Amino acid sequence: MFRHLVRPATRTDAGPLIAVLAEAFHDGPLADWLIPDPGDRRTVYYRYFRDAFYHGLDHGEVHTTGGQTAVAIWYHRREAVPARPDRPAALDRIAGAYAPKFLLLEEAIEGCHPDRPHHYLAYLAVDPTRQNQGLGTALLNHGHGRLDQLGAPAHLEASNPRNRGLYLRHGYTTGRTVGLASDGPAIWPMCRAAADVTGERSRLPRPGRY
Ligand SMILES: CC(C)(COP(=O)(O)OP(=O)(O)OC[C@H]1O[C@@H](n2cnc3c(N)ncnc32)[C@H](O)[C@@H]1OP(=O)(O)O)[C@@H](O)C(=O)NCCC(=O)NCCS
Repeated sequence: MFRHLVRPATRTDAGPLIAVLAEAFHDGPLADWLIPDPGDRRTVYYRYFRDAFYHGLDHGEVHTTGGQTAVAIWYHRREAVPARPDRPAALDRIAGAYAPKFLLLEEAIEGCHPDRPHHYLAYLAVDPTRQNQGLGTALLNHGHGRLDQLGAPAHLEASNPRNRGLYLRHGYTTGRTVGLASDGPAIWPMCRAAADVTGERSRLPRPGRY
């Protein structure tokens, strides 16, 4: 039984949901490494997540909850995503002096994808004032319910031990730990196997490139 209504997000949700993304990811080891200055971080994060939100609407699926306090951005990766030669310039515009670290992060994430088609949870975020009330779980259950009907595997990267615990409880398993540069934090690629007709999930996608 879902306590929270989950629905597709649209362009009219942009303001509140970009704020949810920017504020939810504002703290933590990855944010400290990407943009040590908290003032710069807020400015850049709003630009970065604006780009991520609209990219999700245009190329993936964006889900939210009734009160616009939580958001999940999913992509169906049917095949290897072609290189984006324009991405470094776009990151320069979004992140300025911090762009090289964002590029490094995105390249590391790209290198972690499973070697066959899967659904990718790129972002899961809950308004910091509404965390620990089951909203993230509601979005995960919604996404996974559909994937289990399709018999499709999922992939994501956990960015800290606590959210890794949440994903472990939702059936994901951890692969290798990926360190970001010599001074950067770790991220953990995680896979959730496809369900077969009996509802069992046993076929784990292999980590690595397509
Ligand atoms: C992680 C997150 C999406 C979970 O959503 P939620 O609605 O708060 O979580 P739920 O109430 O459904 O479940 C609680 C579990 O979520 C995780 N969680 C809750 N707050 C968290 C936070 N600030 N940071 C990391 N994980 C958190 C924990 O595993 C928690 O279980 P625990 O209390 O036993 O440790 C949400 O807390 C969030 O946006 N955190 C900051 C951004 C983030 O870490 N996103 C995930 C990126 S991979």
